[in-house]
Amino acid sequence: MREALIRPSLISANVEALHARAATPQSMLVVKADGYGHGALTAARAGLEAGATWLGTADIDEALALRAGGIDAPILAWLIGPDSAVAEAIQVGIDLGISSPWQLDVAAKHATTATPATVQLKIDSGMGRGGLTEPDWAPVASRAKEYERQGLIRVRGVFTHLSLESTTSDNTQLERFERALAVLHDAGLRPELTHAGASVGSIRTPGRGYDLARFGIAAYGFALTPEHEALGLRPAMRLSGQVIVTKRLPAGHGVGYDLTYTTASDTTMAIIPLGYADGVPRHGSSAGPVVLGDQRFQVAGRVSMDQISIDVGDHPVQVGQWAVLWGDPTEGHPSAAEWAAVSGTIPYEVVSLLGSRVPRVVQ
Ligand SMILES: Cc1ncc(COP(=O)(O)O)c(C=O)c1O
Repeated sequence: MREALIRPSLISANVEALHARAATPQSMLVVKADGYGHGALTAARAGLEAGATWLGTADIDEALALRAGGIDAPILAWLIGPDSAVAEAIQVGIDLGISSPWQLDVAAKHATTATPATVQLKIDSGMGRGGLTEPDWAPVASRAKEYERQGLIRVRGVFTHLSLESTTSDNTQLERFERALAVLHDAGLRPELTHAGASVGSIRTPGRGYDLARFGIAAYGFALTPEHEALGLRPAMRLSGQVIVTKRLPAGHGVGYDLTYTTASDTTMAIIPLGYADGVPRHGSSAGPVVLGDQRFQVAGRVSMDQISIDVGDHPVQVGQWAVLWGDPTEGHPSAAEWAAVSGTIPYEVVSLLGSRVPRVVQ
């Protein structure tokens, strides 16, 4: 009665279009948070098929799950906690994103000269979130060089992440990133990979993508900028639910928690078993679009935990009929970006919060 149709061929097409536009030698598909809700393995295979040479995750466990699923492509995992499985990551050749001096020491501690840790230093170039801040650049660089001499660490890459505030802030960050690269160079490090841009940065700052563009949200089909719009990206997830109950209600009848919706006339209500526990944003109450047949409706009243109501008026509706909450606009379906807009959030949140109760059906 619920289904998230996942279309890997669209992820592949999106990655190809983005990579061609970014014109970087290599690209990475970011598959953290279960591939932004699409299924990490499904997304990873689609990205690799489209020519991506790297996969990116936040957690080490996410990277280990890819290895366990048979993915042997290079993977970078950039969030390391005190209890992260660093030793296992090193054993299976996962690159560790280093945002703090202690993480470099932990990587070295779990490495051996037979199996050194491969790391990528993450530079905080101005976002003030993850990454090494300026006072750490020189000490971490010389410590990393020392570990390289001992044969415990290999610094394969250096990267940063952009705040997306504006092209001006992108450029300010990239200038600071350049200063960090110079500090690392002075310490004797010669990383082979330099990367800065994700979905927006790698496209909106042409020529500054360095060796690798890291694609997340745009690869799943969501355009954030006019440059993305021109690429014809298509959402790869379609969320549908079957009508499980229909009923007639008289005019003036309240609907749902707090009775925030009142029927305007005698009408037919259709109940769909999708709610906020499935990832339907509760802030989309009385606003989120739903397509039933070839008609477009709005959620009537509150999004509940497990269900929503649709006021279909006098349109014919049958139990078993599928309603689409979000999918590919080129097929007449609302985009998850529309749900995000009416819910005061971003498409990232809508797709990545898709509930575990919704079966992913891979096409
Ligand atoms: C380091 C890094 N690279 C790439 C991405 C992908 O970003 P986007 O989904 O905007 O492409 C993220 C997302 O948070 C990230 O943290």
